[in-house]
Amino acid sequence: MSDAATEQGRDRARVDGPLKVAGLAPYAYEHEVGEALFLAPVLSTVATGEITGIDTDAARAVPGVHLVLTHDNAPRLALPTLPTLAVLRKPRVRYRGEIVAAVVADTLEAARHAASLVQVGYAPGEADVRVDQHGRDVRSVRRVMGVYPGQHAVGDVDAALAGAAYRVEGDYATPVNHHNPIEPHSAVALWHEGVGRLAGPRTTRLTLWDSNQGVVAPQGVLAGAFGLLPTQVEVISPYVGGSFGTKGMPHPHLVVTVMAARMLPGRAVKVALTRPQMFSGTGYRPETRQRVTLAADEQGRLQAVDHEVFAPVSRVIPWLDPTAGPSLSMYASTTRRVGYRAQHLDIAPGTFMRAPGEYTGMFALESAMDELARDSGIDPIELRLRNEPETDPESGKPWSSRHVTTCLTEGARVFGFEQQQEPGGRREGEWLLGMGVACASFPQMGMGPSLARITFTGGRYVVSMQASDIGTGAWTVLAQIAAQALDVPQDQVEAQIGRSDAPYAIIAGGSTGTFGWGSAVVEAAVAFREEHGSDPAEGATARARGRMPKGVRGVTRMAFGAHFAEVAVSEVSGEVRVRRLYGHFDGGRIMNPRTARSQLVGGMTMGLSGALFEESYRDPRFGHVVNADLAGYHVAAHADVVDVEVGWIGEPDPWMGATGAKGIGEVGIVGVPAAIGNAIFDATGLRLRELPFTPGRVL
Ligand code: MOS
Repeated sequence: MSDAATEQGRDRARVDGPLKVAGLAPYAYEHEVGEALFLAPVLSTVATGEITGIDTDAARAVPGVHLVLTHDNAPRLALPTLPTLAVLRKPRVRYRGEIVAAVVADTLEAARHAASLVQVGYAPGEADVRVDQHGRDVRSVRRVMGVYPGQHAVGDVDAALAGAAYRVEGDYATPVNHHNPIEPHSAVALWHEGVGRLAGPRTTRLTLWDSNQGVVAPQGVLAGAFGLLPTQVEVISPYVGGSFGTKGMPHPHLVVTVMAARMLPGRAVKVALTRPQMFSGTGYRPETRQRVTLAADEQGRLQAVDHEVFAPVSRVIPWLDPTAGPSLSMYASTTRRVGYRAQHLDIAPGTFMRAPGEYTGMFALESAMDELARDSGIDPIELRLRNEPETDPESGKPWSSRHVTTCLTEGARVFGFEQQQEPGGRREGEWLLGMGVACASFPQMGMGPSLARITFTGGRYVVSMQASDIGTGAWTVLAQIAAQALDVPQDQVEAQIGRSDAPYAIIAGGSTGTFGWGSAVVEAAVAFREEHGSDPAEGATARARGRMPKGVRGVTRMAFGAHFAEVAVSEVSGEVRVRRLYGHFDGGRIMNPRTARSQLVGGMTMGLSGALFEESYRDPRFGHVVNADLAGYHVAAHADVVDVEVGWIGEPDPWMGATGAKGIGEVGIVGVPAAIGNAIFDATGLRLRELPFTPGRVL
């Protein structure tokens, strides 16, 4: 066996790391495109209503201004597939913070200044923006995200609740969270026209440097809106400075920037949203109210899991997270019920945010499990072990693999997990100490097959596909997978990703990149060796489509984990400090311990931040977020993240395709707030059911 045979699973630093650290990895906004122009959007200041007039005189008088774009002069586009993207079409506002105009100027400063001078007249409408379970337009939901049941019951839940030995019931609340990647949403748009005999609609091309999770989304959406073939839209996104879901689908600023560039022939137009602008037009994790009721017999075996979800949705796109997802699959229970209600409001739409649904739902479910453990006097780990389902409780299908038991027991051993019989008994001065545990799970969705191409050139194998590295390590791991499959050292392989002129790939979403793209890379390597052998000629190339094992629909695939937290809670200030956080994971085969650890530690850090700090406040009059910057929206700082560590089982999952890897980008965040909340209970005897655990809620 050559050295390469062990490339899979080897600790490798990120190949893009030195470039990023040295400032040599250009982000979308930084591409040199000659003399670029700069776009600044103007956002609505009312929640709904008609625009009665826009006075652009003062803005157009600013030196260096090239264009003020409004619904009056914007190009008429085909109706975009996403209603959010229907911007500058009509003199109408659908939520506060919607783009109603934009200024393009020689400098960013001139554009922003001129944008501030645009005078928009409104006839405000009746706006429904207050989140209220008893509000006007609250509807029962039939399906969530197209796949999850909105109303669903197995067995007689009410009878089970009535007859159970133990029963816990609690109302939980989670706030709006915003993604806040450090690189803001940014793009550069440049149109090219065919000249002379080549002029015409089919020779027009658009080049877009854009910060996104995959080039296919902007390519398809913009081609549709501007009446082009997808091949006429070139999207280039090699380096992305974080996303967490917010760059999965295009947002209105992108459409407006491409419109502006269309009106300024030959000029590239740049846009970078400001931090406050990212709080209104680029999605968020919606708030939830949840009621979870659990019932168990004398031995702690669940007789009922009942999970009701209420969440506001936008009238523009009724985005709703599958918050009750964990209650369908986490534990065996004789009966089970989930139900969703959504309140339709005149607010900006939410979107995917790291582990959508699973994150909010697992907070409620795993807090309730802790309460059940306390009430029944059963050790919290033992209680979970007693409710391990042998097969998927929802579908009855076997698990592709499920190592929750090992995550719990091995995690507890590594961490030194030990709770108090009675909470509140451990202290250091003003600090009460406690420990908590909670499980994590995340479904492994197939999002369709990707393609990869391998070309031998200059003595190296170049693997290209449209895949995207949003900070995950995909640049590195895809090259490792190829090296392993080709049986060559990694330094003979180079990945090329983040461009639309490469073979089609699904976006970096749903934690599917490594196994989905990786499967295509392995297939391409197999095809390459079959066609060209091990001594290929210069330029030899092969391409193939990824695939999943036959019969994969007959199993349920999920990543799992268990989190352990140790907290100190100040009796004086109510401050919560997380002293230690440890997660033990079932993520299938680990392709690269360094990038894997980084994904899991990153997820857990985000969970810690969500548990203690993150909360977007809506203005009750207009429904927009008022703490719309990093001064008002608190994200954990270094001093808050003391000791976060991870371990894993590492056993390949036979149903995850050629890599045997489960996706681990999201499972790390799931359950962290519950582990911390359960530790706060152990420390203080306080059961906190509302995130985040700020001092005001602790005292
Ligand atoms: Mo990610 S929240 O799967 O885009």
